[in-house]
Amino acid sequence: MRFSWLLEKTSLLTSVFGTTETSIDESDSSVKQVAIIGAGAAGSSAAYHLRRYAEEAGIPINITVFEKTDRIGGRTLTVNVYDDPLSPVELGASIFIDANHILVNATRAFNLSTAKPGTDEKGDLAIWDGNHFVFRQQSNSWGWWNLAKLFWKYGTAPYYTDKLMRETVATFVKLYQAPYFPFRSLSERAYELGLTKITGLTGEQFLAEKEIDSKYAHDIVQASTRVNYASNLARIHGLGAMVSMAPEGAMQVTGGNWQIFSKMVEASNARILPNSPVTSIELKESADPDSKAPKYVIKTASPGSWAGRAETHSVAFDDVVIATPYQFSGIKNANNLIEQPIDDIPYATLHVTLFASPFRFSTQFFKLAPASEVPTSVLTTLAEGDGDADGAGLAGFYSATLVKVVTNPKTLNTEYVYKIFSPEKVSPEFLSSLLGVTVPDTFTGPAGASGEEGTEVVEPISWYHPTVFHPYPVKYPRVTFQEPILRDGLYYTSGIESFISTMETSALMGMNVARLIVDDYLASSSPAETNATDSSNATDSSNATGTTEPVALQVEHEQYVLEEQQNEVPEGYGQPLAEQEEQAKVLESHEEPIAVQQEQDHAPESHEEPVVEQEEQNEVPSIQDDPVVEQKEL
Ligand SMILES: Cc1cc2nc3c(=O)[nH]c(=O)nc-3n(C[C@H](O)[C@H](O)[C@H](O)COP(=O)(O)OP(=O)(O)OC[C@H]3O[C@@H](n4cnc5c(N)ncnc54)[C@H](O)[C@@H]3O)c2cc1C
Ligand SMILES: *[C@@H]1O[C@H](CO)[C@@H](O)[C@H](O)[C@H]1NC(C)=O
Ligand SMILES: *[C@@H]1O[C@H](CO)[C@@H](O)[C@H](O)[C@H]1NC(C)=O
Ligand SMILES: *[C@@H]1O[C@H](CO)[C@@H](O)[C@H](O)[C@H]1NC(C)=O
Ligand SMILES: *[C@@H]1O[C@H](CO)[C@@H](O)[C@H](O)[C@H]1NC(C)=O
Ligand SMILES: *[C@@H]1O[C@H](CO)[C@@H](O)[C@H](O)[C@H]1NC(C)=O
Ligand SMILES: *[C@@H]1O[C@H](CO)[C@@H](O)[C@H](O)[C@H]1NC(C)=O
Repeated sequence: MRFSWLLEKTSLLTSVFGTTETSIDESDSSVKQVAIIGAGAAGSSAAYHLRRYAEEAGIPINITVFEKTDRIGGRTLTVNVYDDPLSPVELGASIFIDANHILVNATRAFNLSTAKPGTDEKGDLAIWDGNHFVFRQQSNSWGWWNLAKLFWKYGTAPYYTDKLMRETVATFVKLYQAPYFPFRSLSERAYELGLTKITGLTGEQFLAEKEIDSKYAHDIVQASTRVNYASNLARIHGLGAMVSMAPEGAMQVTGGNWQIFSKMVEASNARILPNSPVTSIELKESADPDSKAPKYVIKTASPGSWAGRAETHSVAFDDVVIATPYQFSGIKNANNLIEQPIDDIPYATLHVTLFASPFRFSTQFFKLAPASEVPTSVLTTLAEGDGDADGAGLAGFYSATLVKVVTNPKTLNTEYVYKIFSPEKVSPEFLSSLLGVTVPDTFTGPAGASGEEGTEVVEPISWYHPTVFHPYPVKYPRVTFQEPILRDGLYYTSGIESFISTMETSALMGMNVARLIVDDYLASSSPAETNATDSSNATDSSNATGTTEPVALQVEHEQYVLEEQQNEVPEGYGQPLAEQEEQAKVLESHEEPIAVQQEQDHAPESHEEPVVEQEEQNEVPSIQDDPVVEQKEL
């Protein structure tokens, strides 16, 4: 930009002499200026709900969304198979469920069509431990865990787990409504709702406390925590484990979930600034010593430019929402503005490998008889000897799932698009073994020696798209969470990720922050009502403003979980199984278990013996400073 040099000079002068930045417009103070940093689920929802709440309240507001990349959606993104825009598959967040009210409502409001995840392709879902399948079921309909089938093997444990999950979700959903919504402190709300009793334990401890059969926890719940959160049951808190078991009514937006967020930003009428990574947030020196409310100045780097060459945005903001994990944001100095810095937390590292192939999974890989049917979707759990609760264990991957059946535009043959979730990069050796055909070191291209003249060369992998993510925090047990209010006028959405990390929860935090901002405007414009908005005490969440707040601290803690847990199994449960019991026994006598059902799209995968040489290539870009790192096609 032409004036960047000048602007830098100006800000230098400002820092030396403490003068007011001349580059900043003295905007009409009757219009509230709000900056949102990040256009993922959280930022988009914040913009959308801000507009709605402000309009309802009759408050003029001007929303500016700063987005680092050239697209909206953040970790919610698609990629096109064969680079064909007509064939998108979810690369990041792929499913949401009925109970996700914000997302579901938005699909209605924006007339976006949804579909069940998975393909029409009939096939089995199975859970693999690196040695054998511990569970297997037909999955031609979306149903995730088929309780009837689970009953064969695990008795009443599936029923009680399901009940526990429902109670947990029912409790969580209270966060959407008064008196729990909005909330200035997530930690407090989680406590009030009794949810810290679940987040404070590992999934393993929580289920044990609820007397859920440990075999079921190990085989089924853990397969679910691995595919959903790349975590074994001993390394994820109870709430994460419960959420992983809640795929009922799973859906995805046709053409890509990111459209929800794109539509939200559009509907918010915000000024969206793509390719505008924010590098700093500073307090504006006030020209008016009587003015109490702080104003914020934002600097952005031009993409590709030297990071130091940041430009000061011409508008000073009344409120700023940081809607991205701070530790990866590249924003340097927001922590200087607040008393309690935003903690760095450990994030999982997940390799998401999408590829198209004419081949099905190899029977040999899964130690099946040559002609037998191979599952189309494989989740995994730890094997008996896998002492270590970290990583994928013997299986080597978290899931390997069929996500789409496509036609290869070159050969016009039917091919399968698979998605593999793994803690390490997937190697050609592993894929060769999984598909039962030699995959070249280049992944795509013809296998092995070139075919004879005139013969058609089959490419084992016709399209290959590996990506590394910091997809979500490692959900270690905890009972406090990074709060949404950093200081007066400065908000943060990503603290909710250590509570639950989903598109919906990020959108919920965006909606929450929007409500708080508008409530504070309302409170400050009618001082008679309350003075509590004096927000020099940003972290004091208990005494906030306004009418919707606060819930008494001593709200009785709901004992929603587990109290009457070990009741009788209701009549009817397991009923459909009666005639199947024989079958179940047969299966068990083979010690070749059973299955669950789901067709979906999260699935990891494995190497039987992870060859440890896949690290040396630098094809996988560093993910140090970014939760979404797309890998170039190789
Ligand atoms: C592989 C994968 C699978 C997943 N599966 C599911 C699933 O099935 N269902 C589900 O609900 N969730 C799933 N998730 C989790 C879900 O994607 C996240 O919880 C959610 O999308 C987070 O949204 P967010 O807005 O908080 O953050 P993000 O989506 O990360 O958005 C942050 C935005 O901020 C931008 N940004 C960063 N720094 C700056 C800066 N300095 N200036 C300006 N902009 C900046 C980023 O570019 C990004 O657009 C999955 C995630 C991954 C990676
Ligand atoms: C709204 O914000 C944009 C971008 O920050 C700015 O260019 C514009 O002048 C603002 N409009 C008003 C009415 O404040
Ligand atoms: C979703 O829509 C329903 C029906 O209009 C409404 O009652 C509910 O409050 C909405 N929920 C959210 C979170 O927007
Ligand atoms: C919603 O989408 C359907 C199908 O795409 C279309 O027929 C209908 O006109 C749309 N409705 C609105 C209000 O846009
Ligand atoms: C609110 O604050 C103003 C000035 O800070 C003060 O004059 C007024 O009395 C306060 N109102 C209440 C209700 O405390
Ligand atoms: C802010 O916090 C400080 C220290 O915790 C306290 O002394 C002060 O009374 C608080 N101010 C308000 C307005 O709550
Ligand atoms: C909130 O403010 C009210 C009135 O100012 C006070 O009585 C109450 O104790 C405060 N609550 C907390 C938790 O600080």
